[in-house]
Amino acid sequence: MNIIAFSTSGSSVSINKQLLDYVLTYFAEDQIDIVNINDYEITLYNYDKEVQDGIPPLAVEFQERINKADLIIMGLAEHNGGFPVIFKNLFDWISRIPKNIVLANKNIFLLSTSPGPRGGATVMGMASQLFPYYGGKVLATYTLPSFDQNFSSDKGVTNESLLAELKEKIDLVKAG
Ligand SMILES: Cc1cc2nc3c(=O)[nH]c(=O)nc-3n(C[C@H](O)[C@H](O)[C@H](O)COP(=O)(O)O)c2cc1C
Repeated sequence: MNIIAFSTSGSSVSINKQLLDYVLTYFAEDQIDIVNINDYEITLYNYDKEVQDGIPPLAVEFQERINKADLIIMGLAEHNGGFPVIFKNLFDWISRIPKNIVLANKNIFLLSTSPGPRGGATVMGMASQLFPYYGGKVLATYTLPSFDQNFSSDKGVTNESLLAELKEKIDLVKAG
């Protein structure tokens, strides 16, 4: 299986990237294209810029990387209840590529975590409702609350029931 994996956070210490990296250890037999969202920090979307200069080549490149994947695994950081701007901006641009269906026929596994007890549940709700409108099929969602209490850098998810839930979701995703 070809997987594209990325965190929507540009932070070099992203907890969503840490959770994502941990989850990817369960997909060791697959081909994984790991995207650093910081490589796609492009000019802020504006209709006038689109008309004048067209779609930035980096946005097209990102879409091409998505197109090659069977499965998208995304670590969703929550900024004021929504996507971090770097990802929202990229999504806005790729949604403007002519005749493009951003997530056409892509299976998707959504992860989120935050330091608080909701674990990014708001952005998770938004993403899981939104992505099907762009052709994506959300196979599973996994939200890890209170990251510092439930995750360690050497062991990964430490809370037993949260780990069991994660493994169930991974099995679901692998079953397609
Ligand atoms: C601008 C900003 C807005 C934030 N808004 C939220 C929020 O709405 N909900 C939440 O749970 N955490 C929020 N946080 C805290 C983030 O969950 C926390 O910074 C987390 O580490 C972000 O994920 P990351 O480490 O993967 O970047 C916010 C942080 C920032 C910098």
